[in-house]
Amino acid sequence: MSFDPTRIELEPIEKASQDELQALQLQRLKWTLDYAYYNVPMYRRKFDEAGVHPTDLKSLEDIRLFPYTTKQDLRDAYPFDSFAVPMRDVVRVHASSGTTGKPTVVGYTQGDIDRWANIMARSIRAAGGSSGDKVHVSYGYGLFTGGLGAHYGAERLGCTVIPMSGGQTEKQVQLIRDFEPDIIMVTPSYCLNIADEFERQGVDPASCSLRVGIFGAEPWTNAMREEIETRLGIDAVDIYGLSEVIGPGVAQECIETKDGPTIWEDYFYPEIVDVESLEPLPDGEEGELVFTSLIKEAMPIIRYRTRDLTRLLPGTARTMRRMDKITGRSDDMMIIRGVNVFPSQIEEMILKVAGLSPHYQLEITREGNLDHLTVNVETREADCSDALREQMAKELQHHIKSLVGVSTRVSVQDIESIPRSLGKAQRVVDKRQL
Ligand code: DLL
Repeated sequence: MSFDPTRIELEPIEKASQDELQALQLQRLKWTLDYAYYNVPMYRRKFDEAGVHPTDLKSLEDIRLFPYTTKQDLRDAYPFDSFAVPMRDVVRVHASSGTTGKPTVVGYTQGDIDRWANIMARSIRAAGGSSGDKVHVSYGYGLFTGGLGAHYGAERLGCTVIPMSGGQTEKQVQLIRDFEPDIIMVTPSYCLNIADEFERQGVDPASCSLRVGIFGAEPWTNAMREEIETRLGIDAVDIYGLSEVIGPGVAQECIETKDGPTIWEDYFYPEIVDVESLEPLPDGEEGELVFTSLIKEAMPIIRYRTRDLTRLLPGTARTMRRMDKITGRSDDMMIIRGVNVFPSQIEEMILKVAGLSPHYQLEITREGNLDHLTVNVETREADCSDALREQMAKELQHHIKSLVGVSTRVSVQDIESIPRSLGKAQRVVDKRQL
């Protein structure tokens, strides 16, 4: 497309040398450990129990001496005990919906909100946006960090924000047609709903004004990227983040390389650790992603276990390292008759079968002692014969069996029969009795 990376002006740190970056990280890491130890009782207790003190950190590698923080730690601190500042200095809270129990609450000082807006502005710029662009935000507004995170960043970059939030798909399409935005920020699964709605209205989504889509909040594959880029005629780039660390904008894929999100390492220090032993792994090896915030005031976070599985890769478009696409979570992994299966693997197989759409849901049931995986997936054909359904089901079963290694049942369903997500898609329905 017409994007010219040499035209954008980077912040000096985006072009800094490794040495400069690491010197800044070390300085900020020392500050964070000290600040957390003296201001958050949870960290003081955890450090004391582990027999470590902030002054033990002499180099970046020494971070491995410090204990991990888990979602359970944050739940135990519900609602505000993980904060390092008095409530009067907290200007905003968000919360991430837990699948069970209470949500995890996160807080921000005015300084945190400013820095988050800067990082999001940097992210949108890396995605090919610039001041003057119109940005249609379909991430949900509210306790979820997606909507407001995207909103403040787009404003900071000098864009015109259309704060649509999630849902009301017909209206999404109307506003995109009438307001002619340049950029859409939305979950990839909901973007497909919007594309479907365009077609339902008899309009080719590729004819819309959109140039770039900034997609995240759920795992998606490169096959899904191709599908979205072709159907909407846009560049689709990946944005990663999580509430506990700040929200969207922890990492952003650069449009000129589209080779995995660049981690904004001046704000967040990443590690990859072995899922079983929790030992740190070298760059390039896959494991669980762990983050330490480097400059957060209301809620510093030390070695937070994200549960996201990926690897760290060397920088390309920037000095900072990249992360590979998230392949799954250490806790959404399905184990079907001994085979580890991730929803993203099934998605890739679905998109190999012409005639199947990427609207799908995976159902796990138990019959006797055996787990069964059923793939419920929609056809793209309005008048799909039984024979064609059977043929597509067989083809998908074959791909999954030979490439993922598990036998599945496949049910090819009518268009619009799989429940649509308004935000993050629910990919797995676990019907096993515990
Ligand atoms: O989903 C923040 C966000 C909003 C990111 C909008 C990007 C865009 P949480 O609700 O706390 O925060 O969920 C965080 O979502 O640990 C990942 O498992 C998943 N996730 C987020 N971005 C991606 C991505 C927001 N690009 C959890 N690819 C994370 C894969 C993602 N998974």
